[in-house]
Amino acid sequence: MRTPLIAGNWKMHLVRGPAASLAREVVSLVRDVAGVDVALCPPATALDAVGRVLAGTRVLLGAQTMHWEAKGAYTGEISAPMLVDLGCRVVILGHSERRVLFGETDEQVARKTAAALVHGLTPIVCVGEVLAERDRGEAAAVIGRQLGVVLDAIPRDAVARLVIAYEPVWAIGTGRTPTGPEANQVAGLIRERLAAAGGSDAAGAVRVLYGGSVKPDNISEFLDRPEIDGALVGGASLDAAAFAAIVRAAAP
Ligand code: PGA
Repeated sequence: MRTPLIAGNWKMHLVRGPAASLAREVVSLVRDVAGVDVALCPPATALDAVGRVLAGTRVLLGAQTMHWEAKGAYTGEISAPMLVDLGCRVVILGHSERRVLFGETDEQVARKTAAALVHGLTPIVCVGEVLAERDRGEAAAVIGRQLGVVLDAIPRDAVARLVIAYEPVWAIGTGRTPTGPEANQVAGLIRERLAAAGGSDAAGAVRVLYGGSVKPDNISEFLDRPEIDGALVGGASLDAAAFAAIVRAAAP
């Protein structure tokens, strides 16, 4: 009942020309794959160029972060209306690289999420534990806290418009992953929290993605699970053939 979503996070890679070329390749490779939502999230400097390639195609344009205010004295920041102006439909928020490397807090992620919803962007809110938290048995508590702050900041009737990405931080870019059942269990916990905040219909509508070292040869391990509705893909999204293979694996 939930349409799977495969989102590519290009991180800080590619200037405009190569970014537009990669987008063109992805568009042509996924053109005939039905029943999957696809998004590409290039760096901010390539949003315009990639957006021109994606305009009129089924592939959605996404950003990797944004500020919570619509405008103001926030040097270096980019707001939701600016992303909307470029044609963005989705925005990744609270990625662990933002949290760990740039000190983004749960409260900031929550404000960003509320702002994205106000401006009509679909937020892909990332949650996940670092290795030490996992080793201490704190993964569920950490994810519950990260999600709880977001859910407290948005109206109950907006819960259904969220996308949540479960990304164990120790799995990002490392080649290590949890097992499908482990990821599915966390996705189930996430959906329980969503249901408590927005009701079971809303929770049932939210796509919960898995992210962290997703590749064509391990994607089925995650997509075969009832609580997992797609993937947030980093490294493999920079390879059009690999990304398209992941999209095809998500097709019903
Ligand atoms: P990875 O990154 O697929 O390269 O592990 C995932 C992410 O950071 O979203």
